[in-house]
Amino acid sequence: MNNLYKKNLLRLFDLTKFEINNLINFSKILKNQKKDNNETQYLKKKNIVLIFEKESTRTRCSFEVSAFDQGARVTYLGPGNTHLGNKESIQDTAQILCKLYDGIQYRGHDHKNIEILAKYSKVPVWNGLTNSFHPTQGLADLLTIQEIIKEKKDFSEITLSYVGDARNNMGSTIIEAASIMGFNLRIVSPKKYWPKNSFLNVCQKKIAEYKKYILCTEDIKEGVNNVDFIYTDVWISMGEPKNTWKEKIALLKKYQINHSMLELTNNPNIKVLHCLPALHDNQTEIGKKILNTFQLKDGIEITNEIFKLHNNIILQQAENRLHTIKALIISTLLPE
Ligand code: CP
Ligand code: NVA
Repeated sequence: MNNLYKKNLLRLFDLTKFEINNLINFSKILKNQKKDNNETQYLKKKNIVLIFEKESTRTRCSFEVSAFDQGARVTYLGPGNTHLGNKESIQDTAQILCKLYDGIQYRGHDHKNIEILAKYSKVPVWNGLTNSFHPTQGLADLLTIQEIIKEKKDFSEITLSYVGDARNNMGSTIIEAASIMGFNLRIVSPKKYWPKNSFLNVCQKKIAEYKKYILCTEDIKEGVNNVDFIYTDVWISMGEPKNTWKEKIALLKKYQINHSMLELTNNPNIKVLHCLPALHDNQTEIGKKILNTFQLKDGIEITNEIFKLHNNIILQQAENRLHTIKALIISTLLPE
């Protein structure tokens, strides 16, 4: 029996360690099948709707390619394309969409909205990112970490530092991932961007079952010494008002992933992870604006040099969005 059948994924805490391990294993099978060009199509005649109230490259494409590979059909509803929340309530929208579709992907702002959508939907709802969580990214990150550590190590044997804004959707998702899978986690950021105590307390309790403790520190040396992985995300998330930028960048400036930070890990084998998109050069409009306004020279949350050096793993992480999302869709839509 497949435990995930008909389940929603709004945040990683919706899953157990057993379920995540099953999803990772299934993703590996699907990844190999695709490479060998002999993928079994499980989702023929299924219809999936993708609602995006914010922009996306990886998440949208991973849901769409998952559906295409598996024989399902998708409808994409981009920002401003629906009545949702404007002329029609989330409750009414959910009740209609679940009559037409077998599954609903939602990327939006307030996490409360996806909870309402899930409450009134009779079909699985998958969170493609809200202001609070990004669980499908978390699954791809876990698959990537496991591919790197191979069967030689268990998650509980590794240490990961999350550097940057630990209050954002990725920070919270990595904290949930550590609490469920039991890896050592260090949050390295200014106190202002540490997770809220109420959330951290729940996660500390959960990870204590592995005899682990989530360390929050402002001290970079303490935070990265001897770790296996360093993870970062953009400092300014989608939809964050411009009037927060100045203070945020001033506080986060010294937490950039650069050569000196990697030296402090004392680990010549250090692996760098980034969920992307990354502001590592001046080739983007927003990157240029931030670099000029705040007189930064070399990248924002990560330097171009380090980004390029660790590009293979970061791209592996991005590719794994596809395989893990595919595993998630199949597992929640089919009983076996
Ligand atoms: N990592 C991620 O969610 O990328 P997109 O915003 O491109 O979907
Ligand atoms: N924290 C980022 C994640 C992007 C995948 C954002 O919300 O914009």
